[in-house]
Amino acid sequence: MQLEGTNYNSFPEFVKQVEAIVGDQGIDTLINNAGIAIKKLLDSVTAEDMLKNFEVNSVAPLMLTKALLPLLKISAPKRKTAVINISSGQGSITNVNPTPPNPWRSMYPYRTSKTALNMITKCLAVDLKPHGIHVICMSPGHLKTDLGGPTADLEVSTGVSGVLNVIKTQITDDVLGGNRGIGLELVRQVLTTTHAKHVNN
Ligand SMILES: NC(=O)c1ccc[n+]([C@@H]2O[C@H](COP(=O)([O-])OP(=O)(O)OC[C@H]3O[C@@H](n4cnc5c(N)ncnc54)[C@H](OP(=O)(O)O)[C@@H]3O)[C@@H](O)[C@H]2O)c1
Repeated sequence: MQLEGTNYNSFPEFVKQVEAIVGDQGIDTLINNAGIAIKKLLDSVTAEDMLKNFEVNSVAPLMLTKALLPLLKISAPKRKTAVINISSGQGSITNVNPTPPNPWRSMYPYRTSKTALNMITKCLAVDLKPHGIHVICMSPGHLKTDLGGPTADLEVSTGVSGVLNVIKTQITDDVLGGNRGIGLELVRQVLTTTHAKHVNN
C-alpha cells in the first residue's frame, strides 16, 4: 500500500484497506514517520517553503491520525495503544544554538514544522487520553539517511533501536509497511521480534 500523506481525499479508501487487513483488532501502534526537511535559511526561505514543510510534517500526521482514529479506538480497550510522532531535536525552541557555524541553526521550514508537530502531539495526547490512547513524540537522533545526510552522527539502526526501546511494549503484532530511511529500518527491526509478522507485501 502506498499513501501520499497530503492527499487527504485518498484517506477514506486507505483506511478501508487497512481495516480489511487488521479486522476487529484495530491498530495498536501508529508511527507517523514520513517527513521532509526544507533546509532554507533566512536569506532564501519563501512562504511556499514554509507551507510545504508545515503541510507534510505537521498537518499530514494530524489528518492521518484523525482518519485512523476509529481503528485506534477499537484497539485501545484491548491492549496498549499509541500514536508515535517522529519529531526532531530541531523542533525544540531551547535547542536553537546561536553559535555559528551551525547550518541547522535557523532552518525555518523544518524547525517550525517539528515545533508544530510537538504541539499537535500534546493536544492529541490530551484529547485522546479519555479513549485510552497514548500520544507521544520523540526524536530518533541525527541519523545517516537521505534527510539526515551522510555526515550525521548516528547509523539509522542506532536511532531506530532507541525509538523501539521506548515503545517496545507497544509494538504491534502486525506491521504495516514502511518507507526508506528510518521507516524501512523500523520495519526491519520490528520484524526481528518474535511476535511480529508482516501483513503486507
Ligand atoms: N535522519 C535524521 O537525522 C532525523 C533526525 C530527526 C528526525 N528525523 C525524522 O525522521 C523521519 C524520517 O526521516 P528519514 O531520516 O528516514 O528521512 P528519509 O530517508 O528522507 O525518509 C523520509 C520518508 O518520508 C516519506 N515522505 C516524505 N514526504 C511524504 C509524503 N508527502 N507522503 C508520504 N510519504 C512521504 C519519503 O517517501 P519517498 O521515499 O516516497 O520520498 C521517505 O520514505 C522524518 O519525520 C524526519 O523529520 C530524522
